[in-house]
Amino acid sequence: MRPRGQSAPFLPALAGLILLMVPIACGGSTRPTTPTPDVPGGDLPPLAVAGRAVDKLIGAAVQAALLNDTRYGAVAAREFSYFTAEYEMKWNALQPAPGVHDFSRGDAIVAFADMQGARVKGHALVWHQSTPAWAEALTPDQLRAALTDHIRTTVEHYRGRVMAWDVVNEAIADGGGGLRDTIYRQKLGDGYIAEAFRAARAADPGALLFYNDYGGEGMNTKSNRIYDLVRDLRAQGVPVDGVGLQMHLSANSRPSDAAIAANMRRLADLGLRVNISEMDVKINDVPGGPAARLDAQRATYRDVVRLCVTEPRCDAVTFWGFTDAHTWLTGDSPLLYDSSYQPKPAYFGVLDALMGR
Ligand code: G3I
Repeated sequence: MRPRGQSAPFLPALAGLILLMVPIACGGSTRPTTPTPDVPGGDLPPLAVAGRAVDKLIGAAVQAALLNDTRYGAVAAREFSYFTAEYEMKWNALQPAPGVHDFSRGDAIVAFADMQGARVKGHALVWHQSTPAWAEALTPDQLRAALTDHIRTTVEHYRGRVMAWDVVNEAIADGGGGLRDTIYRQKLGDGYIAEAFRAARAADPGALLFYNDYGGEGMNTKSNRIYDLVRDLRAQGVPVDGVGLQMHLSANSRPSDAAIAANMRRLADLGLRVNISEMDVKINDVPGGPAARLDAQRATYRDVVRLCVTEPRCDAVTFWGFTDAHTWLTGDSPLLYDSSYQPKPAYFGVLDALMGR
């Protein structure tokens, strides 16, 4: 996936090679060396390499403070080529007080990505859960000015280094009853969404602009409302380039493959790109013992990632973290690596999907 107007990154291969050698030099490796049963002794490519072979970016949400952890940094550098800041690029993290900007943690993630020629998705310019407290107290006119300034300042700061932005996050009400009744809708009206996309485009014409949401992965009232939203925005000439399907799933119950594929296809038919933007798969509610849960998780990761592989307009899969040691789903084990940074069956399920096995 090439961003608008950007060429392939100049890859300082030496830096990447050094990063890859770190775990070996430290006497340990988190590289899965056990070939999967159906690959007799074959070397397994990192996820990003397998993804590149099918023209998909394979990414992960990361936390700047963890990148200095040897094992965390080594897995992130080796396995992924598309990074999303888990929280460091949100409004409340970037601007803790009016006019006080802290780009340092976002910059650390961008620098980490640059070192291995990886890409970055900015997340998220407008989200009701990451509005700074000081902004919530503003009048409508003040909020409009502050939000526009936030978008312009942030996107200009990362211009040319962040290839895509989640411009508006989770603006559709659960159940698909319409727009979520957020502070933005209350104070700025329904047009805040279009205004945000236009401000982001003006700040970086080369960045891809996404609408991002959860609960609308299959064919349901919420995905219908998301579809209507982005269809109408594009009809009004609002610069929306894609939709992020967050894909926070349970291995015990989820939208069917057919429903997810149909939803991806209808979004693609609008001319949009589709991303799986925040995938994790809960397993605590899967019946049976640990082995059954891990098998169900592997199958879910394999089958859902395969839907992106087979949808031409799905150009990226991002996991919402990669080790169970650091997940927002405290108490569950939703990710590809366990808490000791060992690959789980889920990791191999993703690899199976990317390698067409
Ligand atoms: O550890 C830092 C601390 O050092 C720092 O001083 C402090 C400042 O606020 O933040 C601490 O980090 C916390 C961070 O998670 C890491 O654990 C933040 O307080 C906390 O707000 C943050 O929560 C994130 C949440 O969004 C709100 O931003 C979660 O990590 C993140 O997984 C979650 O992600 C959301 C997506 O953005 C949107 N979709 C749903 C998804 C899950 O809720």
